[in-house]
Amino acid sequence: MKWVSVISTICTLSVIFGSTTAETKSKSCNEVRLAYSSKGFNLNDVPNQGVNGAHLKVCPQGYTCCTVEMEEKLSQQSRSDLKAPVSQLSSNLQSTFTQRHRHFDQFFRELLDNAESSLHKMFTRTYGLMFMRHAELFKNLFQDLRRYYASGSAAVNLEAMLADFWNSLMERMFRLMNVQYEFSDAYMECVVGHSEQLKPFGDVPRKLRLQLTRAFVAARTFTRGLAVMQDVVGKVSTVSASPGCVRAAMKMLYCPYCSGQVALKPCQNYCLNVLRGCLANQADLDSEWNNFLDAMLSLAERLEGPFNFESVVDPIDVKISDAIMNMQENSMQVSQKVFQGCGQPKLAAGFRSRRSIKEGGGFTGRFRPYSPEARPTTAAGTSLDRLVTDVKKKLKHAKKFWSTLPETVCAGERVAPGDECWNGTAKSRYESVVMGNGLANQVSNPDVEVDITKPDMVIRRQIAALKEMTVWLKAAHSGNDISMDNEEDGGSGEESGSGCNSPSCDDDRDIYFSTPAPHNPRVVKVARPDAGSENSALVARSSTALALAGLVLALLLPHWR
Ligand SMILES: *[C@@H]1O[C@H](CO)[C@@H](O)[C@H](O)[C@H]1NC(C)=O
Repeated sequence: MKWVSVISTICTLSVIFGSTTAETKSKSCNEVRLAYSSKGFNLNDVPNQGVNGAHLKVCPQGYTCCTVEMEEKLSQQSRSDLKAPVSQLSSNLQSTFTQRHRHFDQFFRELLDNAESSLHKMFTRTYGLMFMRHAELFKNLFQDLRRYYASGSAAVNLEAMLADFWNSLMERMFRLMNVQYEFSDAYMECVVGHSEQLKPFGDVPRKLRLQLTRAFVAARTFTRGLAVMQDVVGKVSTVSASPGCVRAAMKMLYCPYCSGQVALKPCQNYCLNVLRGCLANQADLDSEWNNFLDAMLSLAERLEGPFNFESVVDPIDVKISDAIMNMQENSMQVSQKVFQGCGQPKLAAGFRSRRSIKEGGGFTGRFRPYSPEARPTTAAGTSLDRLVTDVKKKLKHAKKFWSTLPETVCAGERVAPGDECWNGTAKSRYESVVMGNGLANQVSNPDVEVDITKPDMVIRRQIAALKEMTVWLKAAHSGNDISMDNEEDGGSGEESGSGCNSPSCDDDRDIYFSTPAPHNPRVVKVARPDAGSENSALVARSSTALALAGLVLALLLPHWR
């Protein structure tokens, strides 16, 4: 008896309770008004009570708190709601690499500036007035190196530029070593013509050319790669959502409003399908993006190791000084051979004047090792190693950025876990299959209408840009600059291209393996006479005391070739 009444009470209560909630849901739109106006829209757009939704274009029909006007406004809102997290993630990525690009670029430029000022100091001390008189030769060298760094072989033919530099240096030194003679232009041409055969600077020019070429190619290509990244991300982020995507986003984000369930979040798989449909073109970037990142990572390893810009550019003063000492040690033989080949020159008319004796005497004296001041460090107080370690981390982290965007967006507060979620028509489990990434996988996307025959052209162009950059990166990894492919093809020099100008050429034949490389540039090696002059440069790099040691060694071992 008692229990029947209990049951009937429960039934009555539940009927009353149930009907009241149903009534609030369908009739009152208060919560919707609040939520809608909190988005910045006019409260008066929202009907006081639920209306029949037969007019709606996107949301489920039946009782609704939405008008067509509201649907339109909420569509605009959902366009920006969808864009916000994607833009946020993209701009984080972009600023990461904009920053890294700036760091690397500044670092390389500062290294060049520092190398120049350190050469200037060293040569001013060692050669004094005589250096000042020829300073513009070195100034031009660094100007050309800077131009080559900035614009590559389109602006400067590095090999020809260096050959000119050495010829010019030889000509000047030859004149200084033979101040008592007068030389015509034709005679000097003959002198320069003998440089190949005489090798007055020893092996320094050849080694420096190889080291500079691959270090510069690696540095400028890597920096360029970083610039391409920020460019690609920037361009991709301008791609706007298709109408089909905005419609799907509206349904996912705001149709719960229309049905009076303002707090209801979409199911995760539902969100994934909408985002994969909306970001189908972006996801197609992924495979080229990852290839590109792999190529960047490989080149980063070269930057740390054998193609280390810092270890080549920093001791450039010591290397040139080595070369000058080589010529000085050989001055007698060089002059004699030139006289044999080009004829005995005429004695200069004013040879006996004090001035020219002084000038000549100043030069023929042995070069004194200078005592350098501390080598200037870069403003960032940084070294290439640290920069590379940092950028490698960021590059690895950027992998699969585009294909994982939907997962990244459809997480946390933006979706409801489990089955208590908005599935597009009701608060219920989402039954549809989750689509794969990319345009081709959206043929039967249940939530977004995607025209898979019309790939986004902006994104296609970025895919092409990444592809091209990857080819350059791979070539730079082998020590080759192919950004000016057509011009450089069939270039001279058995080592410069290592007989390999095409991007497809295999790695086994690259410069790295075909010539001795400064391995472990951080490790100070003791120069051995048989190991070549490269070692003295290594000893000297980035340290004052060691720079001095390089010079001393060079003096102690005058004939190490
Ligand atoms: C959403 O839930 C409703 C009610 O349970 C169901 O009929 C519909 O198929 C669901 N939609 C999807 C896409 O799972």
